[in-house]
Amino acid sequence: MLRSLFLAAAGSARLERLVESAPAGRGVVKRFVAGDGAEEALAVSRELADDGLAVSLVHLAEDTESPEQARAVREEYVALLARLRTAGLAPAAEVSVKLSALGQRIDEKVAQEHARAICAAAAESGTTVTLDAEDHGTTDATLETLFELRRDFPSTGAVLQAHLRRTEGDCRELAVSGSRVRLCKGAYSEPESVAFQSPLDVDKAYVRCLNILMSGEGYPMVATHDPRLIAIAEDRARWFDRSTGEYEFQLLHGVRPDEQARLAATGHTVRVYLPYGKQWFGYLMRRFAERPSGVSSLASAVSARK
Ligand code: FDA
Repeated sequence: MLRSLFLAAAGSARLERLVESAPAGRGVVKRFVAGDGAEEALAVSRELADDGLAVSLVHLAEDTESPEQARAVREEYVALLARLRTAGLAPAAEVSVKLSALGQRIDEKVAQEHARAICAAAAESGTTVTLDAEDHGTTDATLETLFELRRDFPSTGAVLQAHLRRTEGDCRELAVSGSRVRLCKGAYSEPESVAFQSPLDVDKAYVRCLNILMSGEGYPMVATHDPRLIAIAEDRARWFDRSTGEYEFQLLHGVRPDEQARLAATGHTVRVYLPYGKQWFGYLMRRFAERPSGVSSLASAVSARK
C-alpha cells in the first residue's frame, strides 16, 4: 500500500516543491543524492574515495521524450567522464546509464549510439560504464545493446534483476570471462507471468543467480543491502575460491553506510551507486517505496517547515 503511494507520489510536482522548500528537506535529499550538478557529484565522489569506496555515478534523467533531451544526457555523461579523468577519480569512479534516458523508447538505435559515445568517453578516461536494468519490456533491447557495445568496449557492465524468471538463463550467458554483471533484486513492479512475486522467492532466485555468477568466469557485482544475501555472497566467494578483487559489493548512496564501511574495512571492493541531477524527486520516492519505514525522516523534514 505505502509502496504504491510512494510510486504514485514520484509524479507529484507539488510534493516535490514541498520537500525542496522545507528547511530539512534538502538534508533528506542530500542523504541519497549527491546534488544537482557534476560539481557536487565530484565532491561527494572524492569524499567517498577518501573513505576507500568506489562509486558508480548516475545522472538522474526521467522520461526522456525528445531526441534533444537524449543528446543532452549523452553530453552530460561525456563531460562528466572528462572531469573524472582530470580530477584523478577514474577508474575508481565509473558511470551507470539508463538507456531510457538516452531515448531508448524513441529510437533504440540512436540510444545505442549515445551509449557508444559514453563508452568511448569512459575508455578515454580509463573507466567503465554499466547499463542499468529497467522494466522487463526493455530487457531484450538492453542486452542486445550490451552485446553490441561489448564488441568494442568489453568491460561494459550489465545489470540483471533476480526477480525476473528469465534471469538465471541470462546469468549463465553472461558468466563469461571479462563480463561484469551487477546482480540486484529488481526495482520495478512486474507481473507474475515474468517475475517472482514473494520476497522469499526473489531471495531464493537471487541466491541461484549468485551461485551461477560466483562459479562462472565473469566479475560479479553484488548489489544489495540485504544482510543475509551479503553474508551468502561472502560465503559463495569463499566456496568458489574468489579473492576480494574478483567480485565487488554495491550499495546505494545513503543506504546502510555502516555496512559499506564494514565491508570496505574487511578488504572488499565496495562501490556506491551515486545519483546526481536536478530530477532527484522520482528517484527519492522510489527509495522510500522500497523502504517505507524511512517515511518518518521525510515527514519530519516536511513538517518542520517554518
Ligand atoms: P530489500 O529492499 O529487499 O531489503 C532487504 C533487507 O536489507 C531489509 O530487510 C533490511 O534488513 C536491509 N535493508 C534494505 N534497505 C535498507 C535501509 N535503507 N536501511 C537499512 N537496512 C536496509 N534495480 C533495478 O531494477 N535496476 C537497476 O539497474 C538497479 N541498480 C541498482 C544498483 C545498486 C548498487 C543497488 C544497491 C540496487 C540497484 N537496484 C536496481 C535496486 C534493487 O533492484 C532493489 O530494488 C534495491 O536494492 C532493494 O533491494 P535490496 O536487495 O537492497 O533488499
